[in-house]
Amino acid sequence: MLSTWSSIAVFTQLVAASVLRAPPQARVTVDPLTCVGYEKYIGINDKTFAYSPACADVTFACLAQNGTSIWSHQPCVAAATCQGTESVIILNQCQNPNVLAAGDIPNLAFTIYTNIVGSCAPDGCPITQQNYIDFIYGAMSAANVTEWPSSVNDVITQWWQPILDWTATGDTIPYTNFNDWLHWSNS
Ligand SMILES: *[C@@H]1O[C@H](CO)[C@@H](O)[C@H](O)[C@H]1NC(C)=O
Ligand SMILES: *[C@@H]1O[C@H](CO)[C@@H](O)[C@H](O)[C@H]1NC(C)=O
Repeated sequence: MLSTWSSIAVFTQLVAASVLRAPPQARVTVDPLTCVGYEKYIGINDKTFAYSPACADVTFACLAQNGTSIWSHQPCVAAATCQGTESVIILNQCQNPNVLAAGDIPNLAFTIYTNIVGSCAPDGCPITQQNYIDFIYGAMSAANVTEWPSSVNDVITQWWQPILDWTATGDTIPYTNFNDWLHWSNS
């Protein structure tokens, strides 16, 4: 019994010590010239370099919210899917020093996930292609886009498919994998 209690005490100390040693959440200061560069390329996808005026409008709508928990802002989640996570994160860090490093940004808000997948969200249903199409067109509409993507097929191949390729979860994407993509894909 004594040894059980002493190992609990040791365990408690270890946990306390690791909490104390936990690294501070990383703040990021982006150099102003880098910011000017990223601002020029708003609407240009980080990896394909394809320009979409509609995506630019969604990204401007994201930046207008000047959020810190950027994955709690619908236009920012949408902007990440069309423009890339890397530039959306950096652009937000440029305007707001409280936006943490990619991996430390708070998780995707469940309310946004629910907006994407609907009432089955608490049951853990994944994002389907149709869910994504509805979500991104909804975000473009909310951003008052005037020049829409030329076809839904472009939206699927240029924006949805690369996320599927990264998550490797088949034809749909569960919450956890989409949240990981937002934080770690550097896309
Ligand atoms: C965004 O918020 C930050 C932090 O509160 C503030 O310093 C900055 O001026 C704001 N930027 C804009 C464009 O509103
Ligand atoms: C879109 O237009 C509506 C109506 O004019 C306006 O209230 C809203 O703020 C606009 N949205 C953006 C992101 O500019």
